[in-house]
Amino acid sequence: MFETLSREADDPLLALTPLFRADPNPAKVDLGVGVYRDELGRTPVFRAVKRAEAHLLETQETKAYVGPEGDRTFIEAFWTFVAGEGRHAAGVQTVGGTGALRLAAELLRRSGSSRIFLGTPTWSNHSAIFAAAGLSVVTYPSFDVAGQRLLAGEMISVVADKAQPGDAILLHASCHNPTGAVMDDATWAAVAEVALEKGLVPVIDSAYQGFGTGIESDAAPLRRLLDRVPEAIVAASASKSFGLYRERTGAVYATSASPETRDKLKSHLVTIGRGAYSMPPDHGAAVVRTILTDPELRTDWRTELDDARKRITSMRTILAKGLSRLSPALAAIATQQGMFSLLPIDETRIVELRHRRGIYMPLSGRINIAGLNSSQAPGVIEALCAHAALG
Ligand SMILES: Cc1ncc(COP(=O)(O)O)c(C=O)c1O
Repeated sequence: MFETLSREADDPLLALTPLFRADPNPAKVDLGVGVYRDELGRTPVFRAVKRAEAHLLETQETKAYVGPEGDRTFIEAFWTFVAGEGRHAAGVQTVGGTGALRLAAELLRRSGSSRIFLGTPTWSNHSAIFAAAGLSVVTYPSFDVAGQRLLAGEMISVVADKAQPGDAILLHASCHNPTGAVMDDATWAAVAEVALEKGLVPVIDSAYQGFGTGIESDAAPLRRLLDRVPEAIVAASASKSFGLYRERTGAVYATSASPETRDKLKSHLVTIGRGAYSMPPDHGAAVVRTILTDPELRTDWRTELDDARKRITSMRTILAKGLSRLSPALAAIATQQGMFSLLPIDETRIVELRHRRGIYMPLSGRINIAGLNSSQAPGVIEALCAHAALG
């Protein structure tokens, strides 16, 4: 039976890492990987995480199951981090932000939803996650790569035109992956209006809180949207904001004004997780809980996250200045947010940059700004100007 299977394609982004490792070029630069890198190219464990781990090692008395919904103190503290004070939701801990999205998709199915609208380009896994849960994925273009411009008007009119009551719409809370594009307040308000008018459920993917302009400001649009619509789902990841990538830490939250409905929502989220993996892993959530409930650790973690954001912002400024010589549109890199921007480079040039200059990025042209440091930046700009024929 197994012989009848055809081989699945490797994930092109993950396939880039072994290629980069095997390249002997000492000046090689990895702009492909989707994790934060410091000035020395490391993805460090946050100081506060190390201290929380030391505390856990010292005090944890058992490895018995935590329970199917996960760590309740984490779930609540993480919800306050994402949604602020005073907003109600049914939440469960998940296997990273990906697990949160998958539970969101299954919950939508169980609630009678059958379609989700995705603006493209988007994170490459979004379609796969929603399709795997049996939802039809409807895509619409939401970003002009050459012009580095969000297609806000087009996006609202496509959704207003095509969406039906009960459909879902995916939104990036902040720091759009892969474009870095910032949705302005007017567009967020227009999305809320169209969701209300058409009876759509917003699914908000929050994976980079703190990497845009600040922990609170990054979450402000999401919070305003939650105040406007009666029902929404938030899929939140701790992978980047706490540097806990491999610990698989996240949570999914579904909102409703009714306590009875929230109770039902939680029971569904728990049973969906139970049928998939029984219970979420504990360690990452225990770390986040420890940090968020300890004022000193919390302050230290915020400082380190703020520093990471400032480093990205300064790399953005340098890159935007250098690349705007090629195309004025690329000046937008300076005001885009988060780790990623999407360069208008064709695949042939991307492969050429890899082979001739040791600059690695996926064929989509997405670059991780945090993959750059100040000593490499001038060389990367020069190489892009020489090879890329941007714009
Ligand atoms: C937009 C977006 N959402 C969700 C995720 C999932 O994150 P996690 O590693 O927590 O599953 C990612 C990870 O790259 C992402 O870029």
